[in-house]
Amino acid sequence: MRTITDLRLKKLIEILSSAKDYISGSEIANMLGLSKPMVHKLVDNLRKYGFIVEAHSRKGYRLLMVDDLSLANTYVRDVGNRLKFKVHYVENCSSTQDIAETLAEQGVSEGTLVLAERMTKGRGRMGRRWVADVGGLWFTLILKPKFIKGLQLLSLVAGLSVALSVRSFLGIKAKVKWPNDVIYNERKLAGVLVEGKVEADVIKYVLLGIGLNVNNNLPQDLEQSAITLRDLVGYNIPRIPLLRLVLKYTDKYYDLLIKGLYKKVLSDWKKHSSTIGKYVKVYTINGEILEGVAEDISDEGLLILKLMNGSKTSIYAGDVIHLR
Ligand code: BTN
Repeated sequence: MRTITDLRLKKLIEILSSAKDYISGSEIANMLGLSKPMVHKLVDNLRKYGFIVEAHSRKGYRLLMVDDLSLANTYVRDVGNRLKFKVHYVENCSSTQDIAETLAEQGVSEGTLVLAERMTKGRGRMGRRWVADVGGLWFTLILKPKFIKGLQLLSLVAGLSVALSVRSFLGIKAKVKWPNDVIYNERKLAGVLVEGKVEADVIKYVLLGIGLNVNNNLPQDLEQSAITLRDLVGYNIPRIPLLRLVLKYTDKYYDLLIKGLYKKVLSDWKKHSSTIGKYVKVYTINGEILEGVAEDISDEGLLILKLMNGSKTSIYAGDVIHLR
């Protein structure tokens, strides 16, 4: 699945999202200057991107704009090819990571995701808090990959999937920032937290936590550094179709990782990266502060930094600030 580039498809999304109810095939055909069978074909294409388009024999087409997260399970079951998604919805919780951990320990199947309307103790990377008020997309996906090598890539995949979903669904040119932030104009739209359990080199489970600012309010202290999708488009965004897209992309890239096709994953990540080529400051997980040019990403997903003295170093985890 690629980002939507077909202008007719983009126009179709616009028509369907601005229609109050069903809109007939002939009306859409007129608006697009296309035949009715062509409209039908475009609708089918749109569905391949994860959009839920209902068709009624008399009334025409309607884009499903569901936002009620308690209904999510009904809408995600058909999304994955490799993964069989199953939603465990909670209205309130401390952190979806905690609930997912308990479920994983109980042996729930891969593809189970814990989705919350609100978290009181959301967790961010490097021990930080994650503010998760109502209106966002906060969830943890339980995965059980066999590979160890691609584990770091898994977190890149999550950021990439969110960026591509936001691009396809809303046309917002979101980018990924190493290791796994999703940003727009240097402001954070989404973050990813990967936790898990490894025993004797065997991965028991991975908890892939994704937080995406959608229609939620941000606290004042984050207003400069973060942004919501609603701020960018000016209206409330239905979260279920967006969730479907994120899961669809995650399923696709997870499948590539399982098949060992790391190069494809990395090249797609680099295509949408805002970090590569930038002069950056990195606060590594070991407490070092480094400055240099973010030259590349290694096959394992490490950041390759060219330091001021010309030498190169690879960084496994840390925080990056884009300086120029
Ligand atoms: C970061 O950028 O620091 C990572 C943020 C990860 C937030 C998500 S929201 C769902 C999951 N549950 C949590 O408590 N955190 C992650």
